[in-house]
Amino acid sequence: MCGIFGIVTGREENLGGILVEACRRLSYRGYDSVGCAAISAGGEVDLRKDVGKVEDVSRKLNFGEMSGCRGIAQLRWATFGAPSIVNAQPHFDSDKEMVGAHNGNVVNNVALRDLFKKEGLTVRSTNDGESCVHAVELFLRKGFSTEEAVRKANDLLEGDYAFVIGRRDEKTLYAVKKGSGLVVGLGENSNYLSSDLPSLLFLTKRIIRVEDGEMVIMGAETVTIKRIDDGSEVKREPEEITQEMGAAQKGGYPHFMLKEICEQPVVARDLLHLLNASPHAKMFLSKLQNARNIYFIACGTSYHAALFGATAFARYAGRTVIPVLAPQFIPQYLPTVASGDVGVFVSQSGETRDVLKAMMMAKEKGIAALSIVNVLGSTMMKESEVYIPIACGYEISVPATKTFMNQALAFLYLALKLGGKDTSVLDPLPGLISETIKMSREKVADVIPHLKDQEEYYCLGYGSTYSMALEGALKIKEVTYSHCEGMLSTEFKHGPLSSVRKNYPVVFVVSPDDIPVSLSGINEVACRGGYTIVISEKDESLRANAGKTFFLPKSGEPLASLLSVIPLQLMAYRLSVERGFDPDFPRNLSKTLTVD
Ligand code: M6R
Repeated sequence: MCGIFGIVTGREENLGGILVEACRRLSYRGYDSVGCAAISAGGEVDLRKDVGKVEDVSRKLNFGEMSGCRGIAQLRWATFGAPSIVNAQPHFDSDKEMVGAHNGNVVNNVALRDLFKKEGLTVRSTNDGESCVHAVELFLRKGFSTEEAVRKANDLLEGDYAFVIGRRDEKTLYAVKKGSGLVVGLGENSNYLSSDLPSLLFLTKRIIRVEDGEMVIMGAETVTIKRIDDGSEVKREPEEITQEMGAAQKGGYPHFMLKEICEQPVVARDLLHLLNASPHAKMFLSKLQNARNIYFIACGTSYHAALFGATAFARYAGRTVIPVLAPQFIPQYLPTVASGDVGVFVSQSGETRDVLKAMMMAKEKGIAALSIVNVLGSTMMKESEVYIPIACGYEISVPATKTFMNQALAFLYLALKLGGKDTSVLDPLPGLISETIKMSREKVADVIPHLKDQEEYYCLGYGSTYSMALEGALKIKEVTYSHCEGMLSTEFKHGPLSSVRKNYPVVFVVSPDDIPVSLSGINEVACRGGYTIVISEKDESLRANAGKTFFLPKSGEPLASLLSVIPLQLMAYRLSVERGFDPDFPRNLSKTLTVD
């Protein structure tokens, strides 16, 4: 998703290094174009932008040499207007007197472009970010001050966004937040703003979180925050951030994805400590206990965790839960939602638009909105009555791995608690994850030569491994660009079996409780020449029937299913690298999907 960054310093200096570093740190959000603008003390604007990776564009356009006393950088992820130089941000206003960039979506940008043209403004792109600049320009032309024009621009712009603008003849940057992230960083004789915290921490640890409906007027020495609606000043004390950016560096691993897979034992241990100690879990459980209907609502990987959670709730708490993809929740369940119902909204980022939309609509119908989130301070966290933080720290890689593990673990913990069961059965999990990672890395190397040139795969599971199979299939699709279908293993014979031919790859994820029901499916593929890989605890009947086996350390349920996702994560990672792709930033994808 797009990201913006701004800097104001007290004197003319080289800004290129800082702008490029900020772009690099924003790049985990996903992007297709990069741009930087530097405004000199004398009001000269140097704007450079192009489609491509930060490193490539920066080298080609020599961002490093850019200097000034104000700077704006933007990473764009195309939503309105194709990826192109003209659509890349920042954008100029008509007379190149102002420059600005946005993050998020201005949904009425097409109508606004017509309006701007009618008003005689020069519109150059089909990107909605340009609308933010022209909206301000429109009010400047009507005689408003910059601050007033920025505030008034928000009356025109529909959607969720944050934007930053700078005018040639001033010493400040102005920014607004309406639905997208915006954080201010306070430095010595310089101040910064950004779409997120990680991209500021190399500059300062003193930050102010801007809230929706607020604007920032940022000089080198002063930062003023005001309400957009009435212009009243907001007094907010800066926070001192203690988190280290070590998490945002690869720490010796070739990719964030591998690093994050290997962090799973640590984050799982942290989460168990947190759940045992925190008041959040108790409050969460009391809401669930008294619920009429319970919905688990999410997208993508988080949905797979929700699906796992629903099976765990049935099994360990004797409680029916409806797991549902967020956009489908609206037509399928919203009409019957009423007060007394509880929705558990699950999201790594806490900013996924599809989930937030379902959440807001459900709240209007009286649902009690709870959440399981990773990013603290996210919109979803703030909109929840109670939330459980999954304590994973930054997850940089677009494919979610460690956050899936902890989402599923949080559900398992809640299910056991709700069912009055002893949660100490979960204590061995961190050690078992370490063991599984070690064993799987060796085994994966063994199957990769066979799998690497295939263009389609199936990944099948049953019961509590059904969600793991779906998650494994999503990981493989996401980072290999090949098709992998996740499916209930018993459904395979109802159609897809016809595609099996010699060496056709089918992965079976088998819980120790479901070996009998899985055996016939494995044989149906094997006897037709398919290449079967079975992920399970050690079992002689599986060994006798499967082509390849990944035997997990012995743990039994409820832990065995959780462990079974690890070989799939590693398989996806290794296949991606083998094909020469960057698993951390798969093409066309974004870490945080704040658009419809
Ligand atoms: O931040 P969220 O958990 O709400 O994101 C939901 C999906 O976009 C996300 O899980 C996506 O499917 C992952 N990139 C998959 O690895």
